[in-house]
Amino acid sequence: MALKQKTVWVCTSCGNESLKWMGRCPACGEWNTMVEEKVVTGRGGSSRGSMTVPGSSHKPMPLADIDTSQDSRISLNNAEVDRILGGGIVEGSLVLIGGEPGIGKSTLSLQIPLHCKSLRTLYVTGEESVRQVKLRAVRLGGDDSDCLIYSETLMENILDEAKKIMPDLMIVDSVQTVYTQTIESSPGSVSQIKECAALLLRFAKETGVPVILIGHITKEGSIAGPKVLEHIVDVVLQFEGDNRGTYRLLRSIKNRFGSTSELAVFEMTGKGLHEVSNPSEMLIPMHEEGLSGVAVSAMMDGTRPFLIEVQALVSSAAYGTPQRSATGFDVRRLNMLLAVLEKRAGFRLSVKDVFLNMAGGLRVSDPACDLAVICAVLSSNFDFAIPPDTCFAGEVGLSGEIRPVSQIDRRIIEAQRLGFRKMYISAFGSPDNVPEGIEVIKVGDVPALCRSLFPK
Ligand code: TYD
Ligand code: MG
Repeated sequence: MALKQKTVWVCTSCGNESLKWMGRCPACGEWNTMVEEKVVTGRGGSSRGSMTVPGSSHKPMPLADIDTSQDSRISLNNAEVDRILGGGIVEGSLVLIGGEPGIGKSTLSLQIPLHCKSLRTLYVTGEESVRQVKLRAVRLGGDDSDCLIYSETLMENILDEAKKIMPDLMIVDSVQTVYTQTIESSPGSVSQIKECAALLLRFAKETGVPVILIGHITKEGSIAGPKVLEHIVDVVLQFEGDNRGTYRLLRSIKNRFGSTSELAVFEMTGKGLHEVSNPSEMLIPMHEEGLSGVAVSAMMDGTRPFLIEVQALVSSAAYGTPQRSATGFDVRRLNMLLAVLEKRAGFRLSVKDVFLNMAGGLRVSDPACDLAVICAVLSSNFDFAIPPDTCFAGEVGLSGEIRPVSQIDRRIIEAQRLGFRKMYISAFGSPDNVPEGIEVIKVGDVPALCRSLFPK
């Protein structure tokens, strides 16, 4: 077939293709995401867009006859990673680990083979030389592992080697650096990324070798990469956290073999990432004495209850327009809560600067944190410390009412376990059973909360 070059415009957010440039992607509605790519057709690659799982061309089968007994999981010898994968990595699966540069993706993926000496691993690095990987392995304290390091970026070579070696696990760092000859565009472009992922998926499904693929994303998640891969791969794990801080969060966003919104917490130390098996203990205050502007929220992340410290600072605005800023919390939601405090409870916060911070670099989206947020704000405003044995779980509505939240029993049990003696919840929901040693205080609205918590 004759080689034909054509230009297409590809959306970096959803991968939609168009023959002409558009300011807004018609498929996902994002603005300024279309980039130009040259594709060469006619070389007979693995055909663009054919992401079907090899082996799926069999005849239709009754569901009852499909045998799943061979689908076994391999433990990665890392309790937290195994847990968020749903109990180990499934044979023949393609797992994507995404995150900002410098967050610890290469560290985690190198630690896996170092800690799993029984697994024969092929570690393909397109970013670092084999010496750099060795130095990192020495630093991580496991350079005696027989993990194979391969510094290569051409997919055809990588797959040839992998088929010869037939490892138990293959790791590719990163999807932005590998490329295939069947496509003309440069490594890191949307079409290269999709094609390379499709080749790896085919390899994983044909051979049963699980593949871990690493992908960079920027803060906005806008660069070509993990976003366009999410529908191709089986599992998407995302690394989050502030890469200057020590805590890193690994979240499962998609998992074809387990539950999503699981969260694992790691601590970055001089010797790599360490699992934090009890994250609540790190996220709640160390200080015995109560400080003003601090409130503890009993939140849920995925299926796990968490206690997290919410910190607020309220001060008189130095300039005409007060500043509002929030780290780890939605600023619009903070503005809404401040408006509720102003309108429904009469606090003059519109003339104050308000800063909010979630401990540990966690990003919080659970509405149950509302109650702790307003308590932290009021505590800072009055300069009155909330007793350190008190925590909160409740959603605040626009009329100032405190609404019940899901799984309140599990939140109460976690708070009690961590030594909290009082917990404020909504008056409109009732927990089934409250364990010994913790007093549950029900409040119906913001004024009732203030009467109960703060002195006159
Ligand atoms: P890295 O895994 O290279 O990030 P990514 O692959 O996601 O870009 O992590 C790099 C950061 O981690 C770097 O800032 C140094 C730090 N680090 C440690 O603090 N301790 C360690 O043992 C290692 C290997 C890295
Ligand atoms: Mg890296």
